Amino acid sequence: MRDRALRVMAECGRIATMTEEPGRITRRFLTAPMHVVHAHLRNRMEALGMTVRVDAVGNLRGLWQPPNGSGKRLLMGSHIDTVPDAGAYDGVLGVIMALEWVQIAQDLKSPLAIEVIAFSEEEGVRFGVPFIGSRAVAGRFDPAVLDTKDSDGITVADAIRAFGLDPADIHGALLDPGTIGFVEVHIEQGPVLEAEGLGLAVVTGIVGQSRLSLEFKGHANHAGTTPMLLRHDALAAAAEWITQVESLACATDGLVATVGRITVKPNAGNVVPGEVEVSLDLRHAKDASRIAAVGKLIESANTVAERRGIALQRTDRLDQPAVPMDERLNSFLADAIEAAGMSVKQMPSGAGHDAMVLASRVPAAMLFLRSPGGLSHHPAESVLEEDVEAALKVGSKFFDRLAADSRQIR
Ligand code: GLV
Ligand code: MN
Ligand code: MN
Repeated sequence: MRDRALRVMAECGRIATMTEEPGRITRRFLTAPMHVVHAHLRNRMEALGMTVRVDAVGNLRGLWQPPNGSGKRLLMGSHIDTVPDAGAYDGVLGVIMALEWVQIAQDLKSPLAIEVIAFSEEEGVRFGVPFIGSRAVAGRFDPAVLDTKDSDGITVADAIRAFGLDPADIHGALLDPGTIGFVEVHIEQGPVLEAEGLGLAVVTGIVGQSRLSLEFKGHANHAGTTPMLLRHDALAAAAEWITQVESLACATDGLVATVGRITVKPNAGNVVPGEVEVSLDLRHAKDASRIAAVGKLIESANTVAERRGIALQRTDRLDQPAVPMDERLNSFLADAIEAAGMSVKQMPSGAGHDAMVLASRVPAAMLFLRSPGGLSHHPAESVLEEDVEAALKVGSKFFDRLAADSRQIR
């Protein structure tokens, strides 16, 4: 398996060169380098004997059908979009590992078909809306998203058309009714496994997340002539609110809240800022706590805006409840880890994943690999060769375990 582990890491490194920004890994939904990634993965899929298609939201899908297969299929994969200035493994590792697991299943003559999906969109960077790829597969795509614009004023529908696809065909992305489950391999993106000296974990569940944007609309004016008390400074208002976001998260057990994106208009040093748009990403394992925190922060934004004579507009982008992973599928993964000679660690995920969307439709499970330095969403994100090798062994034991269970996943 060592050669295969090295190949996985080399493949992730290769896909990292397919980027919007030379020298940095940035690959947003349906941008030009997605075509390059598709061409590369299509070759690999076809070499494995898979039939390949791209659905109407740009998910690349390869299907391995074994001779005399049962008609049931296992879904695997992860996403190939990235955050700006990303690492090489978030998402991509899960796609490349899925292809290795296909090869393992072929070697074992597993009767199960395997569909591997390279999801087109998970991060929510280009349109502020995450999970566009997996939502279409799960039948949860909201058509209103088609009108959402990116920072260049291009709508999701236009981006789909420019990629050579047709938004009218999105229903065709729905997963096959014979799908018995979804397994996603992913880096942990945090420090827990490294701290415990472990390479792998089974994910128990994924915390819920809310995403929204707020527009503070004040008045742009001359920075030299407008007295301080006569200003309606949208950026000062947003800044005051942002510190309240941080304070609430620090004071609330289990809450994480982030303002990671801000757009200022007109964005000039000598103009009082007239309009500011900020993002909010807020997560908690308990949905009631998450929803209460969003409510509090909306209220405090209104208070800040009113006091400063500024208008406030809110756009909800995501309300994704916390999702448990499938117990039965998890037990298969745990058995596979044990059979591969490792101790089983179970842990929740603070990061969002395509698995949390697929879980509304089919049993879903995730296998985490340790993240050295706990680093992710950062160019220094990495994996250890020994952990990749261990995850490949788990793949082999997992298919043994599936074959031993006549009812398979459900
Ligand atoms: C995806 O990486 C997310 O959790 O935002
Ligand atoms: Mn990811
Ligand atoms: Mn990510």
